Amino acid sequence: MPLFIFPLIGRFHPLIVHLPIGFILFALILMYYPRKDKNLLLPTVQFALLLSTLTAFFACITGIILYNQEGYAFDTIQNHLILGILTALTCLSLYLLVKKYQSTSNPKIHIGSAILFLSLTITGHLGGNLTHGETYLTEVLPEGVQETFGFKIQEQFEPFSIDADAWEQALFFDEVVQPILNQNCRSCHNEKNSKGDLILTSKESLLEGGKNGEVIFHKTPLESELIKRMLLPLDHEDHMPPKEKRQPVEAEVALIIAWLHAGTSFEETLGQSGISVDLVSSFFVKNETSIYPEVQLEPLEEDVFKELKGKGFFIEKLSVTFPLLKVSTINFTNAENQDLESLEPILAYITILDLSLSNVTDDIIPLIGKMENLTVLKLNETKIEGQNFEILKGNAHLIQLHLTKSMVNRDNLGKLNSHPSLQKVFAYETPLAKEINVEKLKELSFKVEVGNFELPSLPTDRMKY
Ligand code: HEC
Repeated sequence: MPLFIFPLIGRFHPLIVHLPIGFILFALILMYYPRKDKNLLLPTVQFALLLSTLTAFFACITGIILYNQEGYAFDTIQNHLILGILTALTCLSLYLLVKKYQSTSNPKIHIGSAILFLSLTITGHLGGNLTHGETYLTEVLPEGVQETFGFKIQEQFEPFSIDADAWEQALFFDEVVQPILNQNCRSCHNEKNSKGDLILTSKESLLEGGKNGEVIFHKTPLESELIKRMLLPLDHEDHMPPKEKRQPVEAEVALIIAWLHAGTSFEETLGQSGISVDLVSSFFVKNETSIYPEVQLEPLEEDVFKELKGKGFFIEKLSVTFPLLKVSTINFTNAENQDLESLEPILAYITILDLSLSNVTDDIIPLIGKMENLTVLKLNETKIEGQNFEILKGNAHLIQLHLTKSMVNRDNLGKLNSHPSLQKVFAYETPLAKEINVEKLKELSFKVEVGNFELPSLPTDRMKY
């Protein structure tokens, strides 16, 4: 027999099931249709039950073929399958009983009919759930009704994404691995619905493992059940997530592997784990360039670049077609305020400025104030106190300010309150992080991250370009 026959027969299952449904209902109606001569319809009832039985078994066979061919997980279909077989067997028994007693009013026959009707209804409903999803019927009900009756309202998770300018600070597990599990696994591995007794909603539940024990092997992390199942061929019945569900993209799988490889830490950041930017860059929030102002600037002459690079600055165009620049003193860590004066000819071009680890002081702020297209300013590990931070209110495109391990305190940060564009300030390990309670920070017009853990120095902080 040609190979395609089986999958083809399997796919007729959703069609064929309607035959036993129709015949069974028809037989039951005939059996209980009120009439004077009880046995008038008996031959028809028998024939209807015979057809019901034959088509019910045919439906079972096509169902089992479908299950085998399409790689459904057994847990997903087991109730539907068991009840489907039960329905067919009940049908057969009822047929034999009617034949034996030559009547439809025997108590055994009443019980048989009741079981048949129930199992048919439930099997059909479970089958519908498989093809249309479990919330197909309930999701059209008003939300209040859904909650009252406890129909689960599917949690929605945003696709995993990460901040391009602060990705190194992201916690590997909380901000990367868990969101990937939420997206791909949580629908079947949560507190209410824990397939294989495995819950993947938190560190604790992940460590508990499933019915076959731990899913993270700490000694040989790359052989962990968690990843092994994801790496099985799609057709394998143990493949996770099951074939018919959304599959994680390659880069998501790569990040989980990287997390296991880096030692399955729950505290480390991406930076500490030594993750390369290539692994995360595809998750950077889209339209990245849209945060940069639109400018009408002539591209700079190569000579200007050469001269500044010669002085020790790292300068990079954001893209080949876009004139704005990223400027950093990463290789020029003894840069003083006056060294920065040589940036005067390109001030309007600078949109990312990183002076981390340099010797600049508050006196550099007026020069920075002239960078009209600045969007990201990094002053990590500098002596900056922020006494004249109100000047930065003139930087009408500034979105992010990085002040980790600088000397900025609450009063000086307050000078930036109601800044026209500032959205986020990173201020780990500053006097600010110590003196302030988190509630106080909420009064500011921008978000402040102070963290409550030691921020490590990142591999990229000292990377030489
Ligand atoms: C559509 C539902 C569904 C989704 C989505 C899903 N799983 Fe599963 N998972 C199951 C079922 C059903 C079982 C139990 C059957 C089995 O053991 O094969 C299971 C079992 C497991 C087990 C074995 C647990 C044990 O101890 O036996 C692991 C590990 C697992 N899943 C990991 C994952 C991961 C990782 C993801 C996301 C990338 C995921 N699953 C997504 C349905 C799902």
